Amino acid sequence: MINSSKALFQKTFNDKPDSASFASGRVNLIGDHTDYNDGFVMPTPLSLGIEVSIKSTKSGLIEGKTDLFEETSCKINSRVNGSWLDFIKGAIKVFYEEFPNCSKKLEEGIKVAVTSNLPSGSGVSSSAALEIALLRAINKIENQDLSEIKLAKLAQKIEHNFIGTMCGLMDQMVVSKGIMNKAMFFDIKNEKTLNLSLFSDYEFLIVHSGSQRSLSTSLYNERRKECEEASKILKIKNLREAEYKMLNQLKGKLLNRARHVISENKRVQICLSALQNNDSQTFGNEMFESHISLSEDYEVSSDLLDNIIKKAKLLKVIGGRLTGAGFGGCCVFLTEKESSKNIFKFLKADFKNLSLVDII
Ligand code: GLA
Repeated sequence: MINSSKALFQKTFNDKPDSASFASGRVNLIGDHTDYNDGFVMPTPLSLGIEVSIKSTKSGLIEGKTDLFEETSCKINSRVNGSWLDFIKGAIKVFYEEFPNCSKKLEEGIKVAVTSNLPSGSGVSSSAALEIALLRAINKIENQDLSEIKLAKLAQKIEHNFIGTMCGLMDQMVVSKGIMNKAMFFDIKNEKTLNLSLFSDYEFLIVHSGSQRSLSTSLYNERRKECEEASKILKIKNLREAEYKMLNQLKGKLLNRARHVISENKRVQICLSALQNNDSQTFGNEMFESHISLSEDYEVSSDLLDNIIKKAKLLKVIGGRLTGAGFGGCCVFLTEKESSKNIFKFLKADFKNLSLVDII
């Protein structure tokens, strides 16, 4: 259960918030590093998330309180400095840029309390959840016409302009629009989403490897640049348009990166029909293939993540892969219903720092 951000707000500021909002994290079932290539992804919301409570003030300050991070206040107009308060600066800024005719009272000062039961920096979208929760809370005060897709794009803008990760739209979109216990197939280029029921006899187990993602922002942005470079050589808009037969025009890591994106997009489409046909074996195999491709071609795995997947295979999970950006963080497994807790126990016997995140 998540702690109440309203209670934290009351305790910290001895005051009541004007509005509160929740946003869940997500796990990506398949389709990583395809979204910023305009490709296909298939995430689903987690039961864990982030809650924010906010109130407008006239202090000229952002006063923040969370159990997660230090630093509690800064001037509202201060520059981005890498602290969690950048999310609040960003949310206020992008919201008022999008809706210039609203009251803009939060520009004069804001108090914010944040509670979370989502591990941060672990590939389960704590950033997107914080962005979406903040924007929803702001919109409860300003009452603008904020569609789910607009909400997702504003959240992505916070990430690009205030946090510095040049992410795609997957996380923000599933956090904004996803439905619990449904996989969301998302065709980024056409901005089309499809909600699909999960397997009735199987479940997804999400575990944290215990290693935080290191250097993830710079390595992530580097991967994105490599994809852009490959597209330039292939004379296509982005790797969504790439095909296997073009790969002989590339070499070295650009070839590997492009091959991952082409194959991962195919895997998402195969998983879409596997889910529609209740074919868990095919879905699981594609998850294993995806992990190999992320590890060997895209080079975003780690020895620890590879070993966790190897061990899980011996335990006869149906499928498994790292999930999200990689470089540490979480893995997702497809397992028979009710078997996840046991599988987790066996994994934990070998990997002491493992923790259970969610079972969907
Ligand atoms: C992060 C980004 C997403 C996506 C994944 C990798 O979560 O925020 O846009 O690129 O990595 O699939």
